[in-house]
Amino acid sequence: MNKTVIGVLASGRGSNLQAIIDAIQAGRLDAKIGVVISDNPDANVLKRMAGADIQALCIDRRQFASRQQFEAAIAEELNLRHVELVVLAGFMRILSQYFIDRFAGKIMNIHPSLLPAFPGENAQQQALHYGVKVSGCTVHFVDEGMDTGPIILQEAVPVLEDDTAETLSERILHAEHILYPRALALYCEGRLHSEGRRVRIIDKE
Ligand code: GAR
Repeated sequence: MNKTVIGVLASGRGSNLQAIIDAIQAGRLDAKIGVVISDNPDANVLKRMAGADIQALCIDRRQFASRQQFEAAIAEELNLRHVELVVLAGFMRILSQYFIDRFAGKIMNIHPSLLPAFPGENAQQQALHYGVKVSGCTVHFVDEGMDTGPIILQEAVPVLEDDTAETLSERILHAEHILYPRALALYCEGRLHSEGRRVRIIDKE
């Protein structure tokens, strides 16, 4: 079978992207990264890609008059590389209906909480403020809402007595690096079956 071509959108550090690259190299994920796009010219993720054999580019929102033009430029680069699945890995922008319609059912995101708890920014700090004893991470398909799309996989992580946002984030990030490649592998193996909001995982044949 042909490898699924994924396009990764990332705004910052890029550790989830690195976990995806590692999973591909280790043979745990049968995918090919067609392109990495960052909206932030200073993003560490672009530096990380400098020596890698993967196309990486910056599409800076400030160079476009409107959000739609910005998103159209991203979509064009993805389509040029025949991207079949858009993977948001720390992409810190909300995508509009326009973009979501162009890749309907083909955009995934990872979020550092057990959704639907603590959507939006600073999810780990939100969890600490609320006082939950368990948090975690969620991989989901992206819909028009803020972190509201159908859930694919979740992993729970304990909140410890002396946690700070930093220590909790680090513990959750470790779980993210395992969860995201697993969710992508399920997608690439054709094992995700959507029924309304429920995403069923089909057994391997
Ligand atoms: C990750 O913790 C990811 O879950 C989070 O940003 C971080 C990116 O780290 N994403 C969100 O909060 C999206 N709402 P990375 O750049 O090292 O992969």
